[in-house]
Amino acid sequence: MPQTWMITGANRGIGLALTMELVRRGDHVVAAARDPWGGALAELAAERVGGITPLELDVTSDESVAAASAALAGKPIDVLLNNAGVYGPRDRQSAFEMDFDAWREVFEVNVYAPLRVAQAFLPNVEAGAGRKIATISSRMGSIGSNPAGNIAYRSSKAAVNMTMVAFGDAVKDRNVSVLLFHPGWVRTDMGGGGADIAPSESAAGLIATIDGSGMAQTQSFRTWQGETIPW
Ligand SMILES: NC(=O)c1ccc[n+]([C@@H]2O[C@H](COP(=O)([O-])OP(=O)(O)OC[C@H]3O[C@@H](n4cnc5c(N)ncnc54)[C@H](OP(=O)(O)O)[C@@H]3O)[C@@H](O)[C@H]2O)c1
Repeated sequence: MPQTWMITGANRGIGLALTMELVRRGDHVVAAARDPWGGALAELAAERVGGITPLELDVTSDESVAAASAALAGKPIDVLLNNAGVYGPRDRQSAFEMDFDAWREVFEVNVYAPLRVAQAFLPNVEAGAGRKIATISSRMGSIGSNPAGNIAYRSSKAAVNMTMVAFGDAVKDRNVSVLLFHPGWVRTDMGGGGADIAPSESAAGLIATIDGSGMAQTQSFRTWQGETIPW
């Protein structure tokens, strides 16, 4: 039975790979992006008419999220996937030198936005059959995995883990599962060309793991292959 997924940051990187894989297998994707009508997403939408609903969405903007939510009012979403993310400056997020404005921006996208989006689209998820809200975190947010350096990014992913686990607790009795994932080290603009795996490999693993997840896995933090990661 085809499902409807909503993916933020669907225009490039892991979000685009997820969108491509899902429409290829016959699912419908609400492809949310700041510019959902350009680039690879536009090509895919032209090829797979009916498979994609482009949705303009800046996840850091209350107004943009409210407009997107109004546009989707009453439409069921089986899986809501918070994927949009930023890394922050590569050179100024160390213990001895921090760009504090950039750190705030990283928190806007990586921490506040997943909760804002989850709150706004919860009625759509409750109207769907899948009842899943997944967020792409990172192993770099795991305090148990010997963190060093990259404080802005690491702290944002640790914070989104806590945020979404608390959200998961609040929606448990509504039968909505809340899942957190490390997608692997992926060859995207963020991961770089020397990363371990292709976006398609990460996407295929994430989709299979999310397909196999439900309330038994709610508030878990796992890899794209389903292995548990220490908090
Ligand atoms: N790549 C890795 O190795 C890796 C590892 C661990 C975790 N992750 C996580 O995986 C997720 C996807 O990463 P990626 O590697 O695909 O990164 P990417 O290639 O840099 O893509 C980032 C995506 O986020 C979107 N985005 C950023 N700010 C946004 C905003 N304000 N509103 C809406 N969309 C916004 C970007 O849209 P624009 O095109 O409009 O900028 C883009 O679609 C992120 O959460 C990242 O932290 C990645």
